Amino acid sequence: MNFDLTEEHIAVRDAARDFANTELLPGVIERDQKQQFPAEQIKKMGALGFMGMMTDPKYNGGGMDTVSYVLAMEEISKIDASASVCMSVNNSLVCWGLEKYGTEEQKQKYLTSLSTGEKIGAFCLSEPEAGSDATSQRTTAEDKGDHYILNGTKNWITNGNSASVYLVIAQTNPEKGHKGINALIVEKDTPGFVVGKKEDKLGIRGSDTHSIMFTDVKVPKENRIGEDGFGFKFAMSTLNGGRIGIAAQALGIASGAYELALKYSKERKAFGVEIAKHQAIQFKLADMATKIEAARLLCMQAALLKDQKKDFGKYSAMAKLYASQTAMEVTVEAVQVHGGYGYVKEYHVERLMRDAKITQIYEGTSEIQKIVISRELLK
Ligand code: CAA
Ligand code: FAD
Repeated sequence: MNFDLTEEHIAVRDAARDFANTELLPGVIERDQKQQFPAEQIKKMGALGFMGMMTDPKYNGGGMDTVSYVLAMEEISKIDASASVCMSVNNSLVCWGLEKYGTEEQKQKYLTSLSTGEKIGAFCLSEPEAGSDATSQRTTAEDKGDHYILNGTKNWITNGNSASVYLVIAQTNPEKGHKGINALIVEKDTPGFVVGKKEDKLGIRGSDTHSIMFTDVKVPKENRIGEDGFGFKFAMSTLNGGRIGIAAQALGIASGAYELALKYSKERKAFGVEIAKHQAIQFKLADMATKIEAARLLCMQAALLKDQKKDFGKYSAMAKLYASQTAMEVTVEAVQVHGGYGYVKEYHVERLMRDAKITQIYEGTSEIQKIVISRELLK
């Protein structure tokens, strides 16, 4: 596989890096403390083309490849993983899902404003009783002829309050199991749609995570994505791509923490020398850099396979599994390299360590990634 970056890739990466350092870095600590959604920054990311990077330009997207998306996700995540999860959900779950499986009318009506960040999207699969076990959907979409009536509760929805377009997975024909599930586009201002409480989280505290309640929400049939019963396949297929975004997020969290640790190790002195002169610190840096490179290669491989329209589900699961583990390990070590300073907010690494944990949980836990990978191996 050729992992050489083109001039365009480098330009995208540099633009994302520049944006992250100038627009996201100032205020990132405060937003984390106040649990404040980066609304203004997301608007600017939309204007720069970061919210619909892979969407066809005819729907106002950037028309870029998945490799560009991975590069941009890494740079944004180095600085602000709360902004990057909003970006990831909008790009790879909502815009990609709509572009791949939506009707032309749905694309014109929704995708054209989601791909610019004018509107933000949310992806609603998880429920209080159905997280990993995603086929056990309790939310119902009762078929009423020309519309569905939606009832139930979704949990942990990223962009829960800031979104205005929600892709909702719900059960229509329980007797058909996962083949009875539908995916519906639901607008926030529909009667019966209620945004529930905001979660007070360990990490990605700037991201707004809410439960969403539906009580007799009327959804026109033209808002169904794909054929009747396609909803679960829609969710799984979309998540295959989404997991590349979260893998890149984890990669960015890890590489952001590593860069801070590397810099600090050359500045901080102990026992008369920079701590980077102590072999114990050198070995930590070596381990961190090696894991990050391996995670980056897995992300790139998954992205390239997706761009080449080859099967990539196993690779996106591998990339997410390994990059999220790397994010956890590297951020813990980055705090260690900083000593006591690593434990306080000002030095950023404690936040990156808290942010890292979620990458092992959402878009399928690490255990679920292992199920996805091993099923592919044993096919
Ligand atoms: N790609 C394509 N199709 C898939 C698939 C995949 N990765 N995984 C399953 N499928 C298909 C199967 O082929 C099967 O279809 P057929 O019956 O036609 O063959 C169907 O889906 C059901 O699959 P299984 O029989 O394997 O179902 P299961 O219940 O045993 O396991 C699972 C499925 C893989 C565990 C799945 O439930 C899963 O991925 N769970 C994790 C849920 C998840 O990732 N949630 C993320 C929510 S979004 C989010 O988190 C966003 C965010 O944080 C920012
Ligand atoms: P459970 O499924 O109850 O799992 C509990 C534990 O059991 C885990 O360790 C799990 O790996 C393990 N486990 C479960 N089943 C098995 C098995 N078969 N084999 C081995 N181990 C197993 N969801 C959305 O739909 N949209 C979103 O935008 C979204 N954003 C999120 C944002 C945040 C901050 C969080 C915390 C979650 C978000 N989620 C979202 C939900 C997320 O995808 C789920 O939390 C995740 O899929 C796990 O589901 P669960 O929490 O119900 O855990």
